[in-house]
Amino acid sequence: MREKIKELNEKFKDKDTKELLEYFLKKYRGKIAFSSSFGAEDQVLTDLILKIDANAKIFTLDTGRLPYETYDVMDRTNLKYQTKIRVYFPRSKDVEKLYQEQGINGFYESIENRKECCYARKIVPLKRALNGVDVWITGLRAEQSSTRELMQLFEWDEGNRVIKLNPLILWSESDVWDYIRENGVPYNALHDKGYPSIGCAPCTRAVESGADIRSGRWWWESPEHKECGLHIKEKK
Ligand code: ADX
Ligand code: SF4
Repeated sequence: MREKIKELNEKFKDKDTKELLEYFLKKYRGKIAFSSSFGAEDQVLTDLILKIDANAKIFTLDTGRLPYETYDVMDRTNLKYQTKIRVYFPRSKDVEKLYQEQGINGFYESIENRKECCYARKIVPLKRALNGVDVWITGLRAEQSSTRELMQLFEWDEGNRVIKLNPLILWSESDVWDYIRENGVPYNALHDKGYPSIGCAPCTRAVESGADIRSGRWWWESPEHKECGLHIKEKK
C-alpha cells in the first residue's frame, strides 16, 4: 500500500483541486466519503464536492459537545445545498460510562481522560462512518500545525484501513478565505470572533490575532499532544 500511496502522490501532485475531486468522486463512487467539522476548510470542500456530486457522502461526528455556532452553520449548509449532511453520534453506553468514570468535564484533568473522551465521542463513531469506505477525504492543511506539516495529499490510514485524501493540504489560510468569499460559502460565525480552528465547545477558545492557528484547541496541553486521534500520523 505504501507504494500505491507514493505513486498517487507523485501522479496527482500538480493537479488542480477541483479536477482531483472530480476524478476521485467518480472513480470511487459509493466508496468515498468526506468528514466535515464545518470549519472553514471543510466548508470549501463541501462546496466543491456537492457541486460535482450532489449525492456524495459527507458526514460529521457530533460529539454532543459542539458549540451552538457549529449547529447553526450545519443548518445553513443543509439549507443552502438542499442536503442533509450525515451525522454520526457516539454510542450512548460509551458516553454514560465516560461520565461515570471522569465526570462531565474530566478531560481537563489529564491527557488520558481527554483522549478517552475523544475516543468515545469521535474515534468510535468515525470507525462506523468509514465502514465500507475506501477513500476518506479530510480538510487537513499542512500549515495548521507542527504535527501536520509532513502530511501529504494522500496518506494510508492503517487504523481505519482507508486511503486518506487531503485535497487542501497545500492551501494557505488566505486561499481558503478567498474561496469562501468568492463562492458565498456559509461559514461558522466563531471564525469572526477569533476562532481559527473549531472543535468541541469546552476544548476550543479564541486566540489573539496572529497566534498559532491551533493554539486555542486543548490550550492547556502542549503542542505535540494536540491531536484527538482522528489524524495520528502512521510511524514509518
Ligand atoms: S481535530 O483532529 O483537531 O479535531 P481539525 O478540527 O483540525 O481536527 O479538523 C481536521 C479535519 O478532521 C477536518 O477537516 C475534518 O475532515 C476532520 N474532522 C475534525 N473534526 C471532525 C468532526 N467533528 N466531524 C467530522 N470530521 C471532523
Ligand atoms: Fe471530549 Fe474535548 Fe475531545 Fe470533544 S474535544 S471529544 S469534549 S475531549
